[in-house]
Amino acid sequence: TGRCVVAVDGPSGSGKSTVSRRLAVSLDARYLDTGAMYRAITWAVLRSGVDLTDAASVAKVAGEVDLRIGTDPQGYGVTADGVTVDKEIRGPEVTGAVSAVAAVPAVRELLVARQREMIAKAGRIVVEGRDIGSVVAPDADLKVYLTASEAARAQRRSAEDAADVAATAADLARRDKIDSTRKVNPLQQAPDAVELDTTALGIDEVVARLRELLTERG
Ligand code: C5P
Repeated sequence: TGRCVVAVDGPSGSGKSTVSRRLAVSLDARYLDTGAMYRAITWAVLRSGVDLTDAASVAKVAGEVDLRIGTDPQGYGVTADGVTVDKEIRGPEVTGAVSAVAAVPAVRELLVARQREMIAKAGRIVVEGRDIGSVVAPDADLKVYLTASEAARAQRRSAEDAADVAATAADLARRDKIDSTRKVNPLQQAPDAVELDTTALGIDEVVARLRELLTERG
């Protein structure tokens, strides 16, 4: 059980969270949900009442939040300034604002540094996000880029959130557009990442394939 860092990137609804958690459990590794960190900062920004388009104010709030996140793949908690926000960060207000907050360069700088510290400390960890293989952990042992058809992604997300499929599809398209066109660290596949289309695959199949890839890499 030596060092092992697995970077899992991809658009919303590609199956990153479920796959990353399962993979971490099967590897006896820690798990870091970087999206939850951007969401928790967004929660704090919304609570502070600052204008979302005012990057300097958003960055200031982000710099002052006491953000804590666990790394247990079987269940981790997120707190912001001592408030448990696990539920709130999945709500429509945060989901609607997170891509704007995540596009602020100072916010990314702050969270990327935190993420690198957590990865170094854990040693064995599966990290999921949008810029893990490209920016946060470019020296990861395995980089995976998960994709799925738009229909499959909307289907999965709407089932998780008990929401309308059409509305979910529109929200995913909106977030993906902001995430992949922002200036700093956009969602992108690292050149050395293995792309895996999960549209027709079950979770177990995806996890098994990733384990195989890790074994091949020694
Ligand atoms: O993965 P999740 O849907 O929770 O991520 C929420 C948002 O956080 C994404 O839409 C994206 O704007 C941002 N994010 C990011 N970089 C990451 C992880 C998430 O910009 N590494």
